[in-house]
Amino acid sequence: MRASMLAAVFLPAVLAHNIKIPAVEKLVDEQLSLFADYVDLNGTAGHALSAGQGSVFFESADVHAKRQSSSTPYWYESIKKQGISAFNTSPSTYKVFRNVKDYGARGDGVTDDTAAINKAISDGNRCAPGSCSSSSTTNAVVYFPAGTYVVSSSIVSYYSTNLIGNPNNLPVLKATPNFVGFGVIDAAQYQPGGVLPYGATNIFWRQVRNFVIDLTGVPATVEATGIHWPTAQATSLQNIVFKMSSNTGTKHQGVFIEAGSGGMLNDLVFYGGLNAAVFGNQQFTVRNLTFYNAVTAINQIWDWGWTYKSISVNNCTVGLNMATTDPNAEVVGSVVFFDSSFTNTKIAFKVSRTPNSSPKTGGSLAIENIVLRNVDTAIQYGPSQTTLLAGGTRTITSWVSGSLYNPTGPQIRDGVPVYTPVRPAGLLQADGKYYERSKPQYNNLPLTSFLSVRAAGAKGDGKTDDTAAIQAVLNQGALNNQVVYFDAGTYIVTSTIFISKQSRIVGEAYPVIMSRGAFFNDMNNPQPVVNVGNPGGFGTVEWSDMIISTQGPQAGATLIQWNLASPAGAPSGMWDVHTRVGGTVGSGLTLAECAKTPESTAINRNCISAYMGMHVTKTASTLYMENVWLWVADHDVDDKDLRQITIFSGRGLLIESTSGNLWLVGTSVEHFARYQYNFVRTQNIFAGQIQTETPYYMPNPNAFNQPFPAVTALDDPGYGGLCPAGSPATCAEALGLRVNASKNIFIYGAGLYSFFNNYSTTCSERGNANPCQTAMVQYDDTTSNFFIYALNTIGASGMVYRQTTKIASNSDNVNVFPSSIIVFRSDVVTS
Ligand SMILES: *[C@@H]1O[C@H](CO)[C@@H](O)[C@H](O)[C@H]1NC(C)=O
Ligand SMILES: *[C@@H]1O[C@H](CO)[C@@H](O)[C@H](O)[C@H]1NC(C)=O
Ligand SMILES: *[C@@H]1O[C@H](CO)[C@@H](O)[C@H](O)[C@H]1NC(C)=O
Ligand SMILES: *[C@@H]1O[C@H](CO)[C@@H](O)[C@H](O)[C@H]1NC(C)=O
Ligand SMILES: *[C@@H]1O[C@H](CO)[C@@H](O)[C@H](O)[C@H]1NC(C)=O
Repeated sequence: MRASMLAAVFLPAVLAHNIKIPAVEKLVDEQLSLFADYVDLNGTAGHALSAGQGSVFFESADVHAKRQSSSTPYWYESIKKQGISAFNTSPSTYKVFRNVKDYGARGDGVTDDTAAINKAISDGNRCAPGSCSSSSTTNAVVYFPAGTYVVSSSIVSYYSTNLIGNPNNLPVLKATPNFVGFGVIDAAQYQPGGVLPYGATNIFWRQVRNFVIDLTGVPATVEATGIHWPTAQATSLQNIVFKMSSNTGTKHQGVFIEAGSGGMLNDLVFYGGLNAAVFGNQQFTVRNLTFYNAVTAINQIWDWGWTYKSISVNNCTVGLNMATTDPNAEVVGSVVFFDSSFTNTKIAFKVSRTPNSSPKTGGSLAIENIVLRNVDTAIQYGPSQTTLLAGGTRTITSWVSGSLYNPTGPQIRDGVPVYTPVRPAGLLQADGKYYERSKPQYNNLPLTSFLSVRAAGAKGDGKTDDTAAIQAVLNQGALNNQVVYFDAGTYIVTSTIFISKQSRIVGEAYPVIMSRGAFFNDMNNPQPVVNVGNPGGFGTVEWSDMIISTQGPQAGATLIQWNLASPAGAPSGMWDVHTRVGGTVGSGLTLAECAKTPESTAINRNCISAYMGMHVTKTASTLYMENVWLWVADHDVDDKDLRQITIFSGRGLLIESTSGNLWLVGTSVEHFARYQYNFVRTQNIFAGQIQTETPYYMPNPNAFNQPFPAVTALDDPGYGGLCPAGSPATCAEALGLRVNASKNIFIYGAGLYSFFNNYSTTCSERGNANPCQTAMVQYDDTTSNFFIYALNTIGASGMVYRQTTKIASNSDNVNVFPSSIIVFRSDVVTS
């Protein structure tokens, strides 16, 4: 997240309703008027209703709901609530946990619970849409016990709110026939003048999980939306069922996203709807979505690059519609879609790219391992409704359209199969798909299986040194096979916390482990804040919903170090575990201490914090990471103007795992100095979507040696080869992705962005001849079987370098805002 409101970053309201796509530069200005065509500016979908039009939906909706229904009490519902927000202005009175029933919601299927639910959300000086930009001190969990909650207008969610239902008996949010509002859950309510609150690319740290959202009471012909979800990093929707009308003329939609920089969506089931999902956002990772009986399952209204895995489309007219309605321009940048199926569906994919598309690589698509059962047309050219690829009952191994590098190029190809990666067995499930696993909720475990860190004596007040208390409770959890539960809070640690093999750890509302003090502040003697497993250790760790952070100068802090090897049948996992360096109250790294200083070349050493975001060491293996955001703050989250700050952090994610078998599902790494992702002497990695940003201060200084000199033992990339004599300072800016001496590296979607040069965005304007940096991806001669689908870069003249040779230029691959390559392959394969 970009705090600055660069127009193109939003590419916002390119909605699917015959709206002309303006020039990129004008988008923000035009945003408001575009939305006026679609959303009533008062933020309601404005339905005058006549009740009584019943709706029919696929009966397995109920089967599904029953399957999820169990009488096991959910441990989180009954555990003692002692979470706090340590840096809130009133931590003793501010409530993190709110049970909607404590605010008068009945959940009886009759009473209108709207006001009570909204009271539970808004209670106690929170960050409301329209009056607050963002906040790190007002996080909350709004919890829904089982029940049917009738709502007549939007549940208006606030910044940093987690809406969580009972996973053992999903609460139903049931819209009344005359429901008014843009979303049963409106997670970013439009403000007067038609503006989104917060700034969609700055909405972080929130989730919605375990609900049924039922629109079937709203007449089919009335527009109604399940969740309005413009959003950015460290956010997710998980385990939600959307029930919509499938009657002729239905206008229901399940999820509507029109802006932002996401994010993760997984385990969603949609029944009915006109456009069951409407998606427009820079980039996203989407996994395990099932659609029944929609007219169009997914309407992709704009993007730079989206990654779709394990999508099941059943009995729909269209699966994915990414065809532009603008005769002059593509609006969808690129899509990667794989390990998915279409059944009894007329058209699986609807596209509009041709060899003459504008921009040149716009509308790029790569599909792989797609099963068709009784499909009329696999790929249709939307504008003339002609068939590009026939349907039937069969498996499509691959089909791509866009710019290919093999490894030289570009070769613009529209509608060809390509040699697909030979998938290493260790990365796969029994059905041959890449392995996947959702965040565990431990919903079948009794309360006695959980150990609260606060009950065990940790304070989490942002002041007390909790190192010993946390270590003791982690040790006890591992010993007794109990899940360690971090109540919300900020836990200060002054030496390394060790997580041993077989640990299970879960947080409430993203509790923070924050390092402090001299132990972590020696760049010549770096120390992990959290160390997982010993080298040579073997076991499985599960860890979810937490943030690792630093306070003040911490030049030697490696926030997460992972040494543990895990068995092939039982990978370790990290879900929604993030790092956050600076930018929040209590970090000592805010606007007051670390305001940006582009006019100066001096380095403020009090703002050097973090040696590395995460280090997956040589001994580590078999680790699944999902929705993990390693962030060095670029702005002050608690400043109402979100003003920019300069924090120096050394390295992003270093993977040196010798035997590999790693899954990086929906990960991003931003604003580290020497690189974002660095894969060295490793193998067998599945990653998609990966997303990065170069620090905004670069090249003042650049990545060459200040303030983090290259460390050979850590395989830091040297920038010498990219900077022959006479090169501009931008030759040595942090690589988004660097791969050295590795094999079987498969990237399914990458958005690698460099928006700034010394805090100016001129360099990232599309078509700028002197972009912000020289190289974005670099791999070396000893790397093999390195494969990228949908590589999207911004602000780099060299999209890909092999050693010091540029092999792909931004100007050859212009897309909607990024430059895009649909298939890049390191090894020559002849077809
Ligand atoms: C919004 O509501 C106000 C007051 O009800 C009304 O005067 C105005 O016309 C509405 N605006 C739009 C765009 O519907
Ligand atoms: C996919 O989502 C469904 C619905 O939430 C869930 O039952 C299933 O377990 C999920 N599959 C995987 C592999 O997570
Ligand atoms: C298929 O979807 C249509 C609505 O689009 C619905 O009427 C029909 O019942 C569905 N068929 C099955 C087998 O569910
Ligand atoms: C960075 O930009 C500022 C203006 O914001 C300018 O004064 C300064 O000279 C620039 N520094 C470098 C190293 O380009
Ligand atoms: C790859 O790593 C080797 C050994 O560390 C190093 O000598 C070489 O310069 C690296 N290549 C690139 C292109 O970074």
